[in-house]
Amino acid sequence: MRIGVLGTGVVGATIAGKLVAVGQEVRMGSRAPGNAKAVAWAEKSGASASQGSFADAAAFAEELVFNCTAGTHSLEALELAGADNLLGKILVDLANPLDFSRGMPPTLTVCNDDSLGERIQRLYPAVRVVKTLNTVNSALMVDPGALPEDHDLFVSGDDPVAKSRVVDALVDWFGWKRERIHDLGDISTSRGTEMLLPLWVRLYAANQSPRFNFRIVKGSAPA
Ligand SMILES: NC(=O)c1ccc[n+]([C@@H]2O[C@H](COP(=O)([O-])OP(=O)(O)OC[C@H]3O[C@@H](n4cnc5c(N)ncnc54)[C@H](OP(=O)(O)O)[C@@H]3O)[C@@H](O)[C@H]2O)c1
Repeated sequence: MRIGVLGTGVVGATIAGKLVAVGQEVRMGSRAPGNAKAVAWAEKSGASASQGSFADAAAFAEELVFNCTAGTHSLEALELAGADNLLGKILVDLANPLDFSRGMPPTLTVCNDDSLGERIQRLYPAVRVVKTLNTVNSALMVDPGALPEDHDLFVSGDDPVAKSRVVDALVDWFGWKRERIHDLGDISTSRGTEMLLPLWVRLYAANQSPRFNFRIVKGSAPA
């Protein structure tokens, strides 16, 4: 399957690399074709890997586009990708709207009564936005078995069929356990997962490691 990955950072490279490893054809997109990191990734990743602009990567995709851009600039990146190139496709949104301009810890540029996931969905109503993977470190995104115990992931989105397709990809390609993936509901539930990031960055500082995740433990219903 031809898949587009928007983003040349560690997340874009990790997602794109795993997708190629499981047999998909991937085009990595950046603001300008020929981005040094994208070229280096494509050269080392073989015949199924290519690079181009955000628009090239979005147009290349048959069904799935991964948004792995800086959350504070995702709307600019998607504008460059182009609504026509994204039309009807599933946009897997991994981005967090984190503002590092005042140092650590970062702040959220949107929260409480709105989220980046919702902003993207509002701007691109013909795109099926599914928010997921934004609550885990990039290495765990594609290798959840690296932690010694089961741990959890969330999905948010308005289109149940798109969410189901993304969950299949998370299970079949990335190795997540289906029973550990929580469908939170419509795209407004991205507020909750994006607002986990202020906690996530403090756990990161406290642990001095990004190798951790959240685990939901359920009790039985009260009698
Ligand atoms: N790092 C993690 O483990 C982790 C975990 C969960 C979620 N996330 C989220 O994943 C996303 C990617 O993180 P990252 O660390 O891999 O990379 P990043 O440095 O946050 O983002 C890099 C990408 O953002 C694009 N970008 C930067 N400024 C832009 C602008 N003004 N207009 C358009 N595009 C712009 C870059 O374009 P060019 O390619 O043209 O330079 C590049 O492709 C972020 O939203 C982050 O919050 C990260």
